[in-house]
Amino acid sequence: MGSRFMEFSVCTGTVRKYGYLSGIAVGVPTNLWPIPVDTVPTFIISISVPVHWRLMASTKLKTVLITGCSGGGIGAGIAQELANQGHHVFATARDISKIPTELSSLSNVTILRLDVTSQPSITEAVENVTTVTERIGSAGLDVLVNNAGYGYSMPLLDVDIEKAKALYDTNVWGPVRMVQAFCDVLAANKGRVVMISSAGAAVNTPWIGAYCSSKAALTNISETMRLELAPLGISVITAMVGIVQTNFAQNVGSSDATLPSDSRYLVIKDFIFNPKSIENSTGGAKINDLARALVGDILTKEGGGMVWRGYKAGSNYFLTENRGLDVFLKSLQ
Ligand SMILES: NC(=O)c1ccc[n+]([C@@H]2O[C@H](COP(=O)([O-])OP(=O)(O)OC[C@H]3O[C@@H](n4cnc5c(N)ncnc54)[C@H](OP(=O)(O)O)[C@@H]3O)[C@@H](O)[C@H]2O)c1
Repeated sequence: MGSRFMEFSVCTGTVRKYGYLSGIAVGVPTNLWPIPVDTVPTFIISISVPVHWRLMASTKLKTVLITGCSGGGIGAGIAQELANQGHHVFATARDISKIPTELSSLSNVTILRLDVTSQPSITEAVENVTTVTERIGSAGLDVLVNNAGYGYSMPLLDVDIEKAKALYDTNVWGPVRMVQAFCDVLAANKGRVVMISSAGAAVNTPWIGAYCSSKAALTNISETMRLELAPLGISVITAMVGIVQTNFAQNVGSSDATLPSDSRYLVIKDFIFNPKSIENSTGGAKINDLARALVGDILTKEGGGMVWRGYKAGSNYFLTENRGLDVFLKSLQ
């Protein structure tokens, strides 16, 4: 591997990995070789240009704040990818000891404590971002990624309303608070808001109704903000994220893994709280792959609306109302 932005490689007949464009490839057809092919490796010499190199060529380095950057999660994955590309990243978490050292040790990463349910915490973050961006000559913030969020597994008949309200306070009102507070610094740079929603917002899934409805509310709010913030020059994009291999399911399970003793669903308790039946599973996308898929959405200035990213996000899109199969079935009636 060469530098991050230009790669020269010699590899043994492997296909270039997702996210990379093959620029020049020189191959020697093995059937023309004077010796049996299994006695030597098949060499393909290639110069590859990563997709983000094209972005780097057309955009300046950006300042990006991401909420919820605990290790092993999507936020930390996005932060690492952007920081590796040279952008200035504000990696935030409500417990900063959970931010991986690999990220916090980088000179272009500023670590901030930030709880999206706490107005004083958000106000302090705005002040810190203003100070740092002025120091590095950026003046405003280019991108706000609202990633922080968590789940709640519980049949709706048994949902604890106070817990559901707390969930909405983080997943719905947290991003709204963030946009309200960071509006001025975003507008200064004609910036961008990226909302991390869920494909679950569009697919009605038993036992996680409180969570999915919070993401549906976020999606609706995000799409409305897209219209309301456009006159300020701020674009808004909503990432409808499919299943990703993170600690999400474990965090959901540990938050509340018991049914009330009079629940009508006691006989299927184990199914309801099985992480694989929640939203996450071992079959999900890898964090790094999702982060790379989102980089273009984050760094581009133009365009907004809903994008579907990650494992099974596309098929969920296809199955949702008024699309794909739905349209096909209606055409048969
Ligand atoms: N994993 C999936 O399959 C999937 C699919 C679709 C969408 N999503 C969404 O992706 C986002 C990231 O989830 P993840 O999968 O990476 O899960 P994760 O590993 O559990 O990360 C969630 C992050 O949000 C933080 N957080 C929770 N409440 C917060 C608050 N009040 N203030 C600030 N930070 C807070 C958590 O902090 P602590 O570590 O301190 O709890 C953690 O850093 C969430 O919005 C989730 O809904 C995930």
